[in-house]
Amino acid sequence: MENDSKQSPFTKRLVGKVALITGGSRGIGKTTAQLFVSHGAKVVIADIEDELGHLTCKELGEDVNAIFVHCDVAKEIDVQNAVDTTIAKFGHLDIMFNNAGICGQVVNLLNSSSEEFKRLFEVNVYGSFLEKKGTIIFHSSIASVIAGGIPHAYTMSKHAVVGMSKSMCAELGQYGIRVNCVSPYGVATPMLTSLINVQEKESKVEEVYGFSANLKGVVLKAEDVAEAVLYLASDEAKYVSGLNLVVDGGYSTTNPSLWSSIRAASENGTIKL
Ligand SMILES: NC(=O)c1ccc[n+]([C@@H]2O[C@H](COP(=O)([O-])OP(=O)(O)OC[C@H]3O[C@@H](n4cnc5c(N)ncnc54)[C@H](O)[C@@H]3O)[C@@H](O)[C@H]2O)c1
Repeated sequence: MENDSKQSPFTKRLVGKVALITGGSRGIGKTTAQLFVSHGAKVVIADIEDELGHLTCKELGEDVNAIFVHCDVAKEIDVQNAVDTTIAKFGHLDIMFNNAGICGQVVNLLNSSSEEFKRLFEVNVYGSFLEKKGTIIFHSSIASVIAGGIPHAYTMSKHAVVGMSKSMCAELGQYGIRVNCVSPYGVATPMLTSLINVQEKESKVEEVYGFSANLKGVVLKAEDVAEAVLYLASDEAKYVSGLNLVVDGGYSTTNPSLWSSIRAASENGTIKL
């Protein structure tokens, strides 16, 4: 039998780390919380969905591995409270996953002036990283690298998130703090399934997104995004900062519309291929 000393160092990648995950009551945030706990982290879920949040914590081992704190990320006092609660419960904060997000009404998240926003992060996030280590991960989107077919405000906000994370990366590097983004393609979470009118909501979302996906034969799941976040959060990424990690199977790299037109023109005989 292999003994513990032979265990791969990558088996549990977040032992001793404490993570604060906004919007962790459901969706990608919840899946990330599950993955983080399975890698040995303690997790604080900060969300406006109290009932779901407590349910998630129960599944993870409430009070031992995970606690819930009510937090509307648009309210500075709530974010301050979430950070304070994390430190009070677990003693430190190593990973901040700014995951909470809504589609289409982003004014609620960005209704602060840039000065207020900066101050919020200085007070609530930067202030909690005085150990001069740690990492901040923002949840952006494919909407940070492409435009069209997505609400304007959402696209604007997700571009802004990448800009802010890069700016913070430049400012916080001197304190040993890494700042990155993760930007996925469509995942069948309540954010998207709520838009579907038929019964098989998840499979319908996956079918629609799968149809236009570049990478065929695989379906992007919340677990895949969580794995990308785990990488950014872990020591394996200790020199990675300022990155927008796009998890889209190459979707944003391609533009198949010209090829579609050529194929259509070929089919009606206008172009000879
Ligand atoms: N699902 C996708 O296809 C997709 C793709 C790219 C990026 N994203 C991003 O992923 C993140 C998570 O989205 P999801 O797909 O898991 O959606 P989701 O709707 O399933 O989960 C979002 C969570 O955020 C919480 N939340 C919303 N507003 C909040 C607020 N003001 N304060 C605190 N919590 C709040 C919700 O209660 C919910 O638990 C979002 O930032 C979203 O923009 C999602």
